[in-house]
Amino acid sequence: MAKILMVCLGNICRSPLAEGILKSKLPESLFTIDSAGTANYHVGNSPDKRSISVAKKYGIDISNLKGRQFSVKDFELFDIIYVMDESNYRNVMNLARNEQDKNKVTFILNEIYPNQNYDVPDPYYGGEQGFENVFKMIDEACSIIADKLKP
Ligand code: 4NP
Repeated sequence: MAKILMVCLGNICRSPLAEGILKSKLPESLFTIDSAGTANYHVGNSPDKRSISVAKKYGIDISNLKGRQFSVKDFELFDIIYVMDESNYRNVMNLARNEQDKNKVTFILNEIYPNQNYDVPDPYYGGEQGFENVFKMIDEACSIIADKLKP
C-alpha cells in the first residue's frame, strides 16, 4: 500500500504533526508514513514542545518522533512526498533526479485547494496560536488524503 512522506524545513514543527495526524487516520499495518526536514538543524531531536502539545490536545502522541533530513533515497522509499511550503518544494525538487521523482512531490494543502500551491505557514517563530492553526490546516488535508487512500 501507499508510502507517504511529509516534508518541512526542520522536521520538528509541521511535518511531525502531519505524520502523526495522517497515521491517526489510516490503519498502521497497511501504510508507511514518515516525515523529514530539508535542513539538518534538528536531526535526532524530538518535535518542538508546541507541536507535541497541540497534537496531545487532539489525542495524538508525536513525542517519540525524531528529526531526520530528507535525502535522495526518499524518492525510492516513498510514493507521495507532501511538502508544507514553497521553499520545501524547491529544495526537494532540486534533489529530484528525473520526472518520476518530481511527480511524487506535491503541496499538502493542494489536497484542499487544488493547484493553488498554498503554504502551511512556518509556526516556529510565532506563538501557540500558530501551532493551533497549522494543526487544523494539516488535519483537514490529512482527512482528505486518508479518505482517498483508505482501502
Ligand atoms: P518546521 O519548523 O520546518 O515546521 O519544522 C522549523 C523548525 C526549525 C527551524 C525553522 C523552521 N529552524 O530554523 O531551526
